[in-house]
Amino acid sequence: MPEVKLEAWLEETRQFAPSPAFAADANAQPGIYEAAISDPAAWWRTQAYRLVWDQPPTQTLEWDSPNARWFGDGTLNASVNCVDRHVAAGRGDKVAFHWVADAEGDERTITYRDLLSMVSQTAHALTELGVQKGDRVAVYMPMIPEAVVAMLAIVRVGAAHSVVFGGFSADALASRINDSDCRFVVTADGAFRRGSISPLKPAVDEALASCPGVKSVLVVRRTGAEVGWVDGRDHWWHDVVERQSTTHLPEFFEAEHLLFLMYTSGTTGTPKGIYHTTAGYLVGAATTYFNVLDAKPESDVSWTAADIGWITGHSYIVYGPLINGMTQVLYEGLPDSGGQDRWWRIIEKYGVTVLYTAPTTIRMLMKWGEDIPRAHDLGSLRLLGTVGEPINPEAWMWYREHVGGNRCPIVDTWWQTETGTMMIAPLPGITATKPGAAMRALPGIGVDIVDNDGNSVGNGEAGYLVLTAPWPSMARGIYGDPERFRSTYWSRFPGRYFAGDGAKRDENGDIWLLGRIDDVMNISGHRLSTTEVEHSLVGHPAVAEAAVVGASDELTGQAIVAFVTLKQSALVDGDDQTELIESLRRHVATTISPIAKPRQIILTPELPKTRSGKIMRRLLLDVAEHRSLGDVTTLTDPTVVNMIATLMTSHSANDD
Ligand code: WT7
Repeated sequence: MPEVKLEAWLEETRQFAPSPAFAADANAQPGIYEAAISDPAAWWRTQAYRLVWDQPPTQTLEWDSPNARWFGDGTLNASVNCVDRHVAAGRGDKVAFHWVADAEGDERTITYRDLLSMVSQTAHALTELGVQKGDRVAVYMPMIPEAVVAMLAIVRVGAAHSVVFGGFSADALASRINDSDCRFVVTADGAFRRGSISPLKPAVDEALASCPGVKSVLVVRRTGAEVGWVDGRDHWWHDVVERQSTTHLPEFFEAEHLLFLMYTSGTTGTPKGIYHTTAGYLVGAATTYFNVLDAKPESDVSWTAADIGWITGHSYIVYGPLINGMTQVLYEGLPDSGGQDRWWRIIEKYGVTVLYTAPTTIRMLMKWGEDIPRAHDLGSLRLLGTVGEPINPEAWMWYREHVGGNRCPIVDTWWQTETGTMMIAPLPGITATKPGAAMRALPGIGVDIVDNDGNSVGNGEAGYLVLTAPWPSMARGIYGDPERFRSTYWSRFPGRYFAGDGAKRDENGDIWLLGRIDDVMNISGHRLSTTEVEHSLVGHPAVAEAAVVGASDELTGQAIVAFVTLKQSALVDGDDQTELIESLRRHVATTISPIAKPRQIILTPELPKTRSGKIMRRLLLDVAEHRSLGDVTTLTDPTVVNMIATLMTSHSANDD
């Protein structure tokens, strides 16, 4: 049975029913669950009409666990679904994106017609550079329109994007490029963050020193910073893209054609390339966006405040909203670029109606105080969403009251990179919500909560979350490693998808997520494995051994605490110790990402181990969270833990 946190359960009794006005107008109407329940695959088949096809599918699902084919004989083009169809239907003048830069006053409006021209030109440019159907193209970009354009152009020519979050290091970029043998990279000279430049092209140059397969790099000039240049390999976007024709005749691809890879952390040290294919993923993104975020293309201005470097950006900035023909805000900066009221000014200026973001951001906004949102007119908002980690009831209530004016429904959406799209969430207008609960499986999705033997647990009991039936947007694999795909997700409970999360149903059968039950940490909604950080630390010349845990943190959900033993030759004390800890933290930032920097590093002469030599991470977590220590009888030397606990309290958190 997973060990879980229980505090959220206390909140179960509080409920918020949808207002009759919202309910009357909502996209999802009562009856939607019943329609899907008897034959989910058939229900998904009816959702496939949301796409435009070259050859509409006659097949729905072929399922030989863990291999699925959805809409197998259909053919389509993803970018046509996102862009061309809207222009063809006479909606070319509709705004696709209000792009808002990090810097005040720098804004661009991009209509669907503009988007079609840009995607067409970029598709031609990619072809000229040699990109072909079936290739993988790495995208390492800031949040600028060209990032979305690049993704759509890549899939338009039948290649697949592998977007790597711009906050990842050169090493992390290189390993992702090599794992999927990307031969092309799209990037920018740099990104703006709160007015300062964070370089991207230099990281690409560093990465490519160990990526001999990369032939061409396409570079957007964003910051104007001087960058290194490799003639023949590097091409400026404005040289290659802007001279191309603005019309481009698309080809059509099979439903199961690879659409993109998204690397994510598992329980081992190597990130896995999650493999998503075209039609099923797009059907999932379009359908969930329509029902859960209640897409109203005529009147909504939607803002998914996430980075396109993560799955949330793929599904709910790019594919879901564009298929639905939405107008969106695309924001380059941080929540406090230009002041802690920046978000509220953006919402006010553009009349944002639907806001979708992560609990960690809500907690940060909450910390800055409600006076800041109160000074703005947020009356345009009508629906709020959250994703990425369990939301604590306090943050949920703050979001409801101070952002949603007690009038907007909140949808807490549970899903993963691997599920592609939302799996568990309330339907606004139907579901009475509870602060902290993701509530129920969406139509067409089968969820269960089971014990160690795979038997359903009763209401009120915690267990493992599983998905019981295939769904269109499910990952089709891990790039290059079908065995890892099977063993990670489909063999713990054969035929069912093992999510790696703990969950429980309350007395009404509503679902509460209880956090990861494996070695995956969730730092501000970013997924990292303990092993990945341990590998990085052990890669430092001073380190002999490292153990990493994700400790609860009020702001970031979890924070990384590392316990490190040094090599004999590297032992130091006093100021040198502080300096060494700093250099270890920098080392993790440069080998993985600043996100992965431990909040605290404890140097200890020993790590607690069982008699068979396994590090007792559970105990270290207790230490990191300052809990009383449980059973230590299997330890070789129980005094080690007490020693570490003392060290822990004598070091203050060495956070930035
Ligand atoms: C893990 C997946 C889904 C896009 C962003 C994260 C946690 C996600 C919720 C939620 C509780 C959540 C889970 C999941 N998670 N949403 N609403 N409530 N936990 O995608 O990086 O693939 O991480 O995020 O632990 O397994 P990801």
